[in-house]
Formats: sequence, structure tokens, C-alpha cells
Amino acid sequence: MTPTQSDALVFFGATGDLAYKKVFPALQHLIQHGHLDVPIVGVAKSGWNLSQLQSRARDSLATHGGVDEPAFSKLLERMKYVDGDYNDPATFAQLRAALGTAKRPLHYLAIPPSLFGAVAQHLAESGCAQDARIVVEKPFGRDSASAHELNRIIHDRFEEHRIYRIDHYVGKEPVLNLLCFRFANRFLEPIWNRHYIESVRITMAENFGVEGRGGFYEEAGAIRDVIQNHLLQVVAMLAMEPPGSNSPDGVRDEKVKVLNAIHPLAPEDVVRGQYHGYRAERGVAHDSQVETFAAVKLQIDSWRWAGVPFLIRAGKRLPKTVTEVIVRLHSPPQRFFSKQPLEHTHNYYRIRFNPEEIIALGAVVRKEGEEDEIKPVELLASQQPIDEVPPYARLLQAAMLGDSSLFSRSDIVEAQWRIVDPILGDVTPVHFYDPGTWGPREANHLLAEDDGWQAL
Ligand code: BG6
Repeated sequence: MTPTQSDALVFFGATGDLAYKKVFPALQHLIQHGHLDVPIVGVAKSGWNLSQLQSRARDSLATHGGVDEPAFSKLLERMKYVDGDYNDPATFAQLRAALGTAKRPLHYLAIPPSLFGAVAQHLAESGCAQDARIVVEKPFGRDSASAHELNRIIHDRFEEHRIYRIDHYVGKEPVLNLLCFRFANRFLEPIWNRHYIESVRITMAENFGVEGRGGFYEEAGAIRDVIQNHLLQVVAMLAMEPPGSNSPDGVRDEKVKVLNAIHPLAPEDVVRGQYHGYRAERGVAHDSQVETFAAVKLQIDSWRWAGVPFLIRAGKRLPKTVTEVIVRLHSPPQRFFSKQPLEHTHNYYRIRFNPEEIIALGAVVRKEGEEDEIKPVELLASQQPIDEVPPYARLLQAAMLGDSSLFSRSDIVEAQWRIVDPILGDVTPVHFYDPGTWGPREANHLLAEDDGWQAL
């Protein structure tokens, strides 16, 4: 262990949904690969004991990737459990005792943001915060004002360099590859600007609904759930300037600059949708106005991007599960091949994050033996199955090592909220769509005339 490495991992919300779906699989993965050799303390208020938490962990792994017996038995050996109220100092006294000789714990707050303040305060007062790091789960607030207030509360107890605001999208291999593709290649830079690029289109489609998370989703909606965080991070990586250094702040400084150059969204830049049947989900109001689909058009006010629309659409119960970016180039200045269908007049880059990783360049070539006819082809730069390192494992390991490059700084989350703030809530109407379709037709109004979202 290096002197800066965290010497214990504490996770609040140990009996919750996120721990079940993501945290236990990440912990097992880290142990399997020899990256987690410290006490692991789960904290929750469930009236449980350690063996209940351990069987929950087995259950979680059995349904999320499988139990690896040798790694799992190490997980059990290292696991401790503290049960208690997050507002009760006694819970934190128990935690301090469970930490034993650990001096630099990492506290992962997989809990609702309304509890962050109390937990940060009790950690500090119980002596658990000294030399500690804190990992904070999304959603980080619900608008600019609340994010700002949360930052203030956490900063009272933790300096910025000890705070790790997690966005699991940034821990995905294909998303990391985006930065590599942009900045490790020479050929891209001359065309990566408004002179060559006509539009950037990002689709995050999921073919499933809210899956029992109706209560959570009613407080969120697609804009808060995935656009404000995951997809604006993708926009920042697509649009940022090359970082001056590859230090954590080198990349984050450029991200915040480009996010600050994005105009706050106006109602005419957004189309919200809701799938038929959402209102019948558990935890959802019968007259809910919450969006399960949103399409937005962003403008970046910079020398590089002025006039290039960045279009994002994200939704649940769409025809398939796929996340993809299409960076579309302007058409060639002349149309030599008259039979060329309009949609093939643009070259494009296709950067797919899910369900597989693809980077391809869309081009056209002559159709063999056919006068004046062309066919589309893709030059494949890279294609691989999705990485098997769970993003949460990558991010927790980075936080344990004190590497903050993959985490959001306070100015970044606040810049992301500033962009979506004006369109949160019911400022625009919600249009209904049938499950299994690409969302409400109105989403096409954001595109230029006679244009469509690229087929996926
Ligand atoms: C989460 C959202 O942050 O990201 C979910 O709350 C969404 O609604 C999920 O389904 C998508 O991430 P992934 O990694 O499962 O594709």
C-alpha cells in the first residue's frame, strides 16, 4: 500500500439498491484482481447484522456476474457492518471502532443527497474524516441552487481535493477511449471543428422502463437522470480543447471551460416525452409530467464550435439499448453522384459505447458495376466487446489511490446544472410515445428540415 492509498473502504447505503447492483460486484472484482486488501465496512439503517449483509452480498453477486468463491470468501473476511441512523452520533462512534487502526479511510456515500450533510458532519465530529476521502454518488443535487448548497455543506468538512463526485459513465472503457481517440491521433484535430463538422448527435437509448425505480424516477426524469451528468460529460469530452497536461486538473480544467461555453437550454431547445404505461408503474403519480425521454439541442459558444448543434436524445422503452455518438461532417461541396441518397452525403464518425465498443468512419464508395451508384461503407477503427472491468470498480480503485481525474469537481457539476436548469420540471409539455418507438415525433423538430436522427 502506498502512503496515499486509503486504508479502509466504508460504504454508506450498504443494504440499498446501488450496493446490490453495482457496489458488491465492484468489490469482488477489485479483490479478484488484488486491488482491495483493506477492511470494508458497510453502513446502513436497516436493523440488519453482518451475516444478513453477507448473504445480501452473495445474492447480489449471484444475480450480477456470478460469485467467485475465493474472492468472495476474502470479501466476507474483510467485511464489517455498522447498523444505525445517519443522524445519530452513536452510529459514527461504532464506525470509528470498526475502522480499528485505519487512518485514511475512504467513505463512499451511496445514499440520497439529502443525507450527505449529516453524514459529512458526523464523520468529522467522530474523528472518521481526518485524512479521509469521500466519494459522493449522483445525483449531486437537483438543480444549480441545491448543487451549490451541497458543495458548501461538504466543503465545510472536506477540502475539494478529498471529494470524489462519481459519474460511472466516466469510468467506462469506451468513454475513456474517446479521450484517447481524440488526443492520441493527429488526423482528427484539423477537422474537429465547425469548418468540417455539421452536427454532433448523441443517443442513449434503453429498451427497458424504470424497472421498479418509479419513486426515484419521479424525482429525476431523463434530464436529471442521464443528460445533466453522463451525457454532458460525453459532450465535454467530445468538445473540449486538448488538455495542457494529463494531470487530473489538466483534463478537468478543459471540461469546465467547454461546459461554461454551452448556452443554458431554452424551452425551444428541448422536447420531453413519456412512454405510455409509465404512469401505471409503482411509485409513479397517475398524472405524472416526468419525462422518460428527452431530446435537447445544445450550442457551444466557442471559436471551434459556434453554429454546430450538439443534439442529445435519451429515453427509456425505446426500440433497443444502445449509446452512440454520430459526429457528422458537412457534405462535399458538389454532388457528382446524382443517385446518392441524401443521408449518404455526409461522412461521419460513429463512436458507440454500448452494447459494444465501436469507432468507425462512415464513407461512400462506388457500387460495383453500377454507373453513378454508390454504397455506404464504414472504415472500422476499433471494435471490441464491452470491457469487463465494471466502471464502479475502476472508479473506486482510482479514489482509493487518490486519483481524482475521473471525478467531477464542484465547478464541473455546477456548470452542468447551469445548462439544464432553465428546462427542468414542467417548463415544456410532455409528449406521449408508444413503448418500442424512438420517442415522440416532436423530437425531430430539433433537427434541420428533411433530416432524421441517424439510424442505429
Ligand atoms: C444511471 C441511471 O445513472 O445510468 C439509469 O440512473 C440508467 O436510469 C443508467 O439506466 C445507465 O447506465 P449503464 O451503465 O447501465 O448503461
